[in-house]
Amino acid sequence: MSERFKATRSAILDCSERLSSPGSPVSVSADEGYQRWAPTYDLTLNPLLSLEERYVTPLLPSMMGKAVLDVACGTGRWLEKLVALGAKPGVGIDLSTAMLRIAATKIPIAGRLVRANCVQFPFAAASFDFAICSLALSHVRDLTAVSRELAMTLKPGADLFVSDLHPEADAQGWRTGFRDGTTAVRIKTVPHSVAEILESFCPAGFDCCDLIAARLGEPEEPIFIHAHKGHLFQSAREVPAVLICRFRRNRSHGDVEHVEGPR
Ligand SMILES: C[S@@+](CC[C@H](N)C(=O)[O-])C[C@H]1O[C@@H](n2cnc3c(N)ncnc32)[C@H](O)[C@@H]1O
Repeated sequence: MSERFKATRSAILDCSERLSSPGSPVSVSADEGYQRWAPTYDLTLNPLLSLEERYVTPLLPSMMGKAVLDVACGTGRWLEKLVALGAKPGVGIDLSTAMLRIAATKIPIAGRLVRANCVQFPFAAASFDFAICSLALSHVRDLTAVSRELAMTLKPGADLFVSDLHPEADAQGWRTGFRDGTTAVRIKTVPHSVAEILESFCPAGFDCCDLIAARLGEPEEPIFIHAHKGHLFQSAREVPAVLICRFRRNRSHGDVEHVEGPR
């Protein structure tokens, strides 16, 4: 069995509790989880990542010449795409050195990566034209800090995409996790309701332009089938799997003057 195929099976087995195989999963911190997941993260065909990309990509504005920020960039999945679409300069931040180490092997984004916490950015005000924070919000307890930092760092009119495991999927037992060899590993999260997300981002200075509850569809079915989990696909597609919020930094909310250089 190829490494990629094995990894695909692992991802599907662990993208939700209902999809996982028997056995007690271990529950670990985000720090430990991403340290262990990093080496196989990109080898893994993950139906949730596929679904999220399928919905977000057509909604992206033109990236030509835009200064973009990928918050909790992980192995640089989105940053690499945004740079390929013409974004310049692009920057990715993440807390996990293991994930950043993998990102740094990708030539277009190597040198554009910063180890930083998404509750405190190392950037000047109004530095970016676009930001994305993909599948990471539920690792952060303090949403107000994340939304405040994003509002400070984005220029008025900038688009921001925020995605995460949908709270309804979490309520049905879906969990962020992966398989490390024979061990099912779950990463501890702090799920946020849609209302909580809106109540953090809107007062910080964002208008909500789109709120999407994305469900698995036909494009994700082959991933299940290859993992011998095709029989679970129909029930999985009934659950809102990924929440996608498209925000725009509004012009009326505590706009800060553009300050050059690091804070
Ligand atoms: C599921 S991965 C998503 C990675 C990438 N955004 C993607 O969509 O492929 C979640 C990422 O959030 C990062 N993360 C968790 N808490 C963080 C924090 N407080 N600040 C920055 N990054 C964080 C983790 O290190 C991990 O790389």
